[in-house]
Amino acid sequence: MREAEFCHPRLVAVYDAECPWSRDDDFFLAVVNETPCSRVLDLGCGTGRLALGMAAAGHTVTGVDPARASLEAARAKTGAERVTWLEGTSPILPDMAFDAAVMTSHVAQFLVDDDAWAGTLADLRRALVPGGRLVFDTRDPRARAWERWNPVASRRRIALPDGCEVVAWTEVTAVGDGTVGFTHHYTFPDGARLLSTATLRFRTEDQVRSSVQRAGFRVESIYGGWHREPVGSGDGELLVIARA
Ligand SMILES: C[S@@+](CC[C@H](N)C(=O)[O-])C[C@H]1O[C@@H](n2cnc3c(N)ncnc32)[C@H](O)[C@@H]1O
Repeated sequence: MREAEFCHPRLVAVYDAECPWSRDDDFFLAVVNETPCSRVLDLGCGTGRLALGMAAAGHTVTGVDPARASLEAARAKTGAERVTWLEGTSPILPDMAFDAAVMTSHVAQFLVDDDAWAGTLADLRRALVPGGRLVFDTRDPRARAWERWNPVASRRRIALPDGCEVVAWTEVTAVGDGTVGFTHHYTFPDGARLLSTATLRFRTEDQVRSSVQRAGFRVESIYGGWHREPVGSGDGELLVIARA
C-alpha cells in the first residue's frame, strides 16, 4: 500500500513509536520560537508531535495532513485540543493566516513532481502574511541517504507502547533522476506482515533555492545540519528558512 505508514492505523502506531521528539524538532521549535505567540501552520503534520510541542510553547497552531489515520492519532494525544487539525493538502489553506509555516521530517520530498511542489509553495506563500517565514527540511542528495536503506543496515526493532516489538526494514526499489522509490517491511508479533511503499524526490540545493524563490520567498538560510552547520557538513540535510 502506498504511504501506508501514514494511512494504516497499525503502521501509524509504529511511525509514532519510531519517531519521538528529536533534534529536528528542537531545530524547528527554536526557529518558530524566534517569534513568540505566532500563528503557525504545520503542513504534513502527521501524528502531531511538533504541532503539539509548538502549541505547548504558546503558539496558535494548525496541523494539516492528508492522512486521516495520522490525524486521528494526533487528535487522541494529550493537548490535542489546543491545535486546529485539518485533513487535506495545501489548496485548503486560508489566505494570509499564518506568521510561520513548517514542513518537517521531509514532507517536501513527498511532493515528487515539480508542478506539485511549485503548487504547494505557491499555496504556502498565499497562506503566510507578508514577512512570514517558511521552514522545512529536505535531504541533500549529495549525502546519498538511500544507500543506507537496505535490508541489513535498516533492520530495526520498534517497541510499541503495549510492549510489543515490530521488526522493520527498508529496501530501495528504484533510483531515478532525482527520485528514489522504496518499501518499508513490517512484521508484527502476531505474524502480520505489512508493507508501505513511497517515492521521494531529492532536490539539489540549487533546485530548492530556485523553486522557493520562484514562489515569492526570499531564502534567508540553508543549513546542512540540525546545529546550523553549513551545507555539505552536518547531517546531510538542506534546512531551509525563507521569508514571504
Ligand atoms: C514523514 S511524515 C512527517 C510527519 C510529521 N511532519 C513529522 O515530523 O513526524 C510525512 C507526512 O507528509 C504527509 N504528506 C504527504 N503528502 C502530502 C502533501 N501533498 N501535502 C501535505 N502533507 C503531505 C503524509 O501524510 C505524512 O504525514
